[in-house]
Amino acid sequence: MKPLEIRNLSVEYLTAGGLIRVVDDVSIDISERGEILAIVGESGCGKSTLGLAIAGLLPSNARIAGGQIKIFGKDVATNKVRVAVIFQDALASLNPLLTVGEQIAEIYEHHFRMTKKEALEEAKKRLKDVGLPPSLMDRYPHEISGGQRQRALIAMTIAMEPELIVADEPTTALDVTIQAKVLILLRDIVKRYGVPMVYITHDLSLASQIADSIAVMYAGQIVESSDKFSIFKEPRHPYTQALLKSIPRIDIDVDELYIIRGEPPLPGSFPKGCRFNPRCPVAFKNCFYEEPALKMVDGGYVRCHLYG
Ligand SMILES: Nc1ncnc2c1ncn2[C@@H]1O[C@H](COP(=O)(O)OP(=O)(O)OP(=O)(O)O)[C@@H](O)[C@H]1O
Ligand code: SF4
Ligand SMILES: [Mg+2]
Repeated sequence: MKPLEIRNLSVEYLTAGGLIRVVDDVSIDISERGEILAIVGESGCGKSTLGLAIAGLLPSNARIAGGQIKIFGKDVATNKVRVAVIFQDALASLNPLLTVGEQIAEIYEHHFRMTKKEALEEAKKRLKDVGLPPSLMDRYPHEISGGQRQRALIAMTIAMEPELIVADEPTTALDVTIQAKVLILLRDIVKRYGVPMVYITHDLSLASQIADSIAVMYAGQIVESSDKFSIFKEPRHPYTQALLKSIPRIDIDVDELYIIRGEPPLPGSFPKGCRFNPRCPVAFKNCFYEEPALKMVDGGYVRCHLYG
């Protein structure tokens, strides 16, 4: 049974302007325990909405318009599945009235019925797992740094023994060196505990540091998905190629950083045919009339008329 299997998922928001589809016909998989799948795309393409749908945390004005999400074979629409979410803002996710130690221990007391003493011992072990000293047990969230808070949140996440983790831009608020350390920690810990993870980011180079496989999202759809190495070695979709070209590289001397022309379209006003056609450097006639389907190409998936 796969840790994650999403088939033809569509999500809509009810807004003042009517129903707007922001996730459209998304199919993605995580095949193994401990595998990290990164969802990469520009702001507004629907990444967080997809993450919230997986975690069963969609806001009340959202509805699943079609498709299915299965976690270890269980349909999340009809089963209770333990999905932990790590958001960007660790401070908002932590309880300001409890010390770090107390909030990790609380999970063991309530979910695993341990005594307070046993729970505090376990909490200490989780702090050690995430590289935090035992002295942090007695500190409140506002008394520790942003990087330490994100580590504490990872310790809590692991304590919950989730079947799947969704991390939505968890390091965006941190400075670059701390960001790299938190990324390495997160990768190590999901590998050690064998928890599958969906990692959401707008940054393809960051995705390359943490993920095993990558799904590129554009205007609500997955346009390419494959293992990380294929995406970097042989990107097939023109959007993936453009994203790769826009990553700054120190090994190649370039005069100017490549910037993808134009803006991504807003939900509700996607162009006819391929949604990437106004920005695609190789668009041809068919691209303006017919929407490409997601097709299997050499073990990965691509949504583009250039293939198949
Ligand atoms: N609760 C909501 N009600 C109505 N529309 C929403 C709601 N939440 C998000 N949207 C819209 O859905 C679209 C996708 O939003 P989403 O937050 O999923 O994108 P994202 O890829 O996570 O963007 P970012 O990188 O900026 O976080 C956007 O156009 C957004 O305005
Ligand atoms: S379908 Fe056409 S417009 Fe869309 S990415 Fe492929 S070539 Fe470009
Ligand atoms: Mg988001």
